[in-house]
Parts: sequence; structure tokens; C-alpha cells
Amino acid sequence: MKLQGKKILICISGGIAAYKINFLIRDFIKKGADVQVLMTPSAEKMVSKLTLSTLSKNPVYTEFYSENGTWNNHVDLALSADVILMAPCTANTLAKLVHGMCDNLVLATYMSAKCPVFIAPAMDLEMYQHPSTKQNLELAEDFGHHIIPAEHGELASGLSGQGRMAEPETIAQIIEEFFNATQSLQGKTVLITAGPTYEAIDPVRFIGNHSSGKMGFSLAKEAADRGAKVILISGPSAEKTDNPNILVHRVTSAKEMFTKVFDHFENVDIAIASAAVADYAPKEVASEKIKKNDDSLTIELVKNPDILKTMGEKKSKQFLVGFALETQNEEENAKGKLQKKNLDMIVLNSLRDEGAGFKGTTNKIKIITETTVTEFPLKSKNEVAKDILNFVQAQILK
Ligand code: C5P
Repeated sequence: MKLQGKKILICISGGIAAYKINFLIRDFIKKGADVQVLMTPSAEKMVSKLTLSTLSKNPVYTEFYSENGTWNNHVDLALSADVILMAPCTANTLAKLVHGMCDNLVLATYMSAKCPVFIAPAMDLEMYQHPSTKQNLELAEDFGHHIIPAEHGELASGLSGQGRMAEPETIAQIIEEFFNATQSLQGKTVLITAGPTYEAIDPVRFIGNHSSGKMGFSLAKEAADRGAKVILISGPSAEKTDNPNILVHRVTSAKEMFTKVFDHFENVDIAIASAAVADYAPKEVASEKIKKNDDSLTIELVKNPDILKTMGEKKSKQFLVGFALETQNEEENAKGKLQKKNLDMIVLNSLRDEGAGFKGTTNKIKIITETTVTEFPLKSKNEVAKDILNFVQAQILK
């Protein structure tokens, strides 16, 4: 079983949903996990320590020191965990943990940990919608943590809305899927290009495009979660990651991206080119800001190097994935690129599909190989990243 022998450290903070953790612990224990529970002081008012310790078969700690004078070593607790689950995670604990506050055993343990962290927030609907909560959840995601979103329904306040902690079965399923997937890219190095490129015209202007970099960052996170070492080479993008398994190189132009890619390409197992690389760049970059003296201005453009095509030419062991954004004869053009660039598969986004493409948070793709076309429904880019990597893995194992 996937959870057999896994050390799960559950940190409970003071939300009513704490009572649901009893069921979650029982489920984890049944599946062979080793469960250690920590609580914030206010969580003690919500659920009985005796119940939690009986179900988890381990003592439950709240303070740095136990009554008998022994020190509850937060570093040992943190480093021995395979995974930390913050559930329920109150607005207060969430805010503290993303801002480095450390005034209780749960927070000190969290800060000492190196393992993956899952956060299942639980709070009233207005608190969940508050800009500070939203920002704190984004920060936690930037740290590489996994957010298990709150669900809609009746809340302890009597109000109804989003804020209920995800059900124990949902949390258990997510943790199990994580352990199941973790091993799948262990030992592999994955190179991902992401975002747009900016091609300078003069010191203040550039030619660019609307790519957000979200698809590439989602792919990087998913590959890292599956145990891969990820080299992410991104053009200008607002996306961030502090995931220790993702080495991020920020570049600006296609030529810089090209150089960085080929610093690493030889040693990678999988390369995924999700960047929207500018096809052309100005032939000359003006050294001073261009003045608007004339009624028209002509900028001569020259072709940029095709990074992916060059990867296709140099490829030896690498499994090579390209992206195509087409507006007409989509499948035919994508297939053409698959062959021309010597790819193993190509991910096709169509600008005709609502919600697809490189600007938003969702995408609708087709995956095309030499012999197959597989269509996927509209999904979040995180889910699309899972589909793409599942497909890559299935191809590699063939
Ligand atoms: O030929 P086209 O630009 O449509 O191909 C798109 C694919 O090629 C994407 O995977 C993109 O990342 C990659 N590409 C590249 N270098 C370029 C142009 C596109 O790596 N100069």
C-alpha cells in the first residue's frame, strides 16, 4: 500500500473542523501510515488530545516541553516526517507560517521541515475570501506547498459558502496520490522552458507576447512533486517558485534562453518546451531610446534560433516535448512540427477553444504523437500539467 510506513505529521490548529481529523487519522493508520500529531494551543479546545493520541498510537504534543520535563524536539519531529499536513489550517496559522512567525511548536516544526507540506485551510467564508488569506495561500504555493482548497457548504457560523475544510476522504486521497506519484520521476532530470521572450528594440522597448509562464511553472512543480530534478528556464514571468527541487534560470531574450538550454540539454532525460519564444528579433538594438521624429518607423527583424528544433537535432536519450499554438489546420500543423523538430510528442493548444492558450489559468489540449491524437477536456493548468506528465511517463515506459 502507498501509505505503508509513511510518516505523516499532522498539525492541527484551532478550527472547529479539527474534529474531522479523528477520522483522517484512523484512515491513515488503517493504511499502515505512522501518524504523529501536533496541535496549536487553541486546537486543544477543539478536540481531545486523548482521542488523537489513542487513534494515532503516538503522544500528541502542543508545547516545547512535556509535563515530565522532556523537550519535544521540533527539529527531530520535522526531519523525521515524510510529509506535513496542516489540517485544519486556520487563517491565523496560515498567516504565521508564511511570514516566518514561530511562536508555538507547530510553527517551529513547520519551519524546521524539509519535506513536502500540505495545507487544508478551514475558516468562515469572509475570512477565506479576505485578500490577506488569498495572498497567504499564494505565498504558501510559491513556497512549493500543496494547498487543499476549502470546500463549499454549511459553516460553523451558520453561514453557507466556501471555507469548510476539505473532507477527510478528499485529504486522504490527495496524500495517497502524492505518495503514489512521488516515485514516478525519481532520478530523472527534466528541463522546462517557460514564459515569453522579450526582444529588445532599444533600451526601453521590446517585442514580446502575452505568455504568462503559468503552464511551464505548473509543469515544473508537478515534475518536482514526482521526484524529478527540474531545470526551469523562464523568460520574463510573474510566476515564482521556491521549490528546492526546481532550479530556476531567468532569461530575457530567445538567444539567452538558447544559451541556457544548451548549458544543460545534454544531461537531461526529458525536455519540455512550453516557452512562447519570439520567432524574430530586431536586427539592431538601438543604443539610445528611439525618438519619434518620423511618421513611420521600420524595424528590421531577423529570425531567432529555434531552440526546440536545435534540441531535436542534438537529441540522444532525451524525450522531447514541444508545444504548438495554432489558429488554423491545427492538427496538421502540429503534426508537421512534430516531424520537423524531431519531437516525441507535441501539446496542441487551440486559440479557438475558450479557456485555452497561454494567458489564463486554464488550458484545453490535445497530445499528438507520431501515431496518436489524444484530446483532453478544459482543466486548470495544474491539472493539465498532470495529464502531460502522465502521458510522458507512459511513453517512456513503453
Ligand atoms: O514553430 P513554433 O514556434 O510554432 O513551435 C512552437 C514550439 O517550439 C514550442 O514548443 C516552443 O517552445 C518552441 N520554440 C523554440 N524556439 C523558438 C520558437 C519556438 O523552442 N525560437
